[in-house]
Amino acid sequence: MTMKSKFSALSPSPFNLDDPDAYRLWREHKLATLPSGLEAIIVEIKDLNRLSESEKSALSACLRDCNMAIYASTQPRPNEKTEIRNLGRELGLERLDHNMGADEEGITELEVKNDAAHKRYIPYTTRAIHWHTDGYYNTPEQSIRGMVLHCVEPAIKGGENALLDHELAYIHLRDLNPDYIKALVQSDAFTIPANIVDGETLRPERSCPVFNLDEGGNLYMRFTERKRNIIWKDDPMVRAAVNELSALLHSNSPQIYRGTLQTGQGLICNNVLHDRSEFENDETHTRLLYRLRYYDRVSV
Ligand SMILES: [Fe+2]
Repeated sequence: MTMKSKFSALSPSPFNLDDPDAYRLWREHKLATLPSGLEAIIVEIKDLNRLSESEKSALSACLRDCNMAIYASTQPRPNEKTEIRNLGRELGLERLDHNMGADEEGITELEVKNDAAHKRYIPYTTRAIHWHTDGYYNTPEQSIRGMVLHCVEPAIKGGENALLDHELAYIHLRDLNPDYIKALVQSDAFTIPANIVDGETLRPERSCPVFNLDEGGNLYMRFTERKRNIIWKDDPMVRAAVNELSALLHSNSPQIYRGTLQTGQGLICNNVLHDRSEFENDETHTRLLYRLRYYDRVSV
């Protein structure tokens, strides 16, 4: 099945360009129920291992409304990996992506690392990370649908995340011009060159659509603002769509939430668009976050 037919096969679906009524209704509801900002999606959690009914429904409501929630543990040291793993399980996040850099269980410790294996990857430096969704270079079978980013320790300065629900990016582009969506659902909207280190191919070249649908008709997105290591399709409509998306990401839109995770806080999301500002450590503050990437979407 081609990407195009996937998008037009579902009806009613807000993501079917031939079904403008379904889109209008979904869009109206989405914008009417959008949380007012980051503060509105913070949910306090007593025990990350076991959510109470009210905690679970509060998190679920945020995820339904904007594909993300911030949890804030009230435990004294809620930093054990098993606790974070259990929190994910409570929300249907099970299948971890064992990406490069992750431990045996599939959890990645994001901190400054200066060894040869890590230092060429920006997440392990203090540098800013441009807007992206996680795993934009993965195989289709290993598409990242869910993610948890848990803060063990923040930096002394910086390390802020900006977050944008990818469904709002879709709405923005479709409202501007539905042809932007047509361009970005193409299966070769962008190509990631092969990752070859010392003659060994760690990842072959791969072409991907920006917007895609899962079996349940849910929208997911692959995107990176990096200029290196990505080749956009030589298509004026793709170029125009990406420029519009970048303009939105660098605007002051209130739909972009910004915040710096503190100890015991974490982002749980359906792989929304995000970035990270540069940061500084000192002798007593060493930024450490756990990142868990899942093939599952949060079930709410
Ligand atoms: Fe990321």
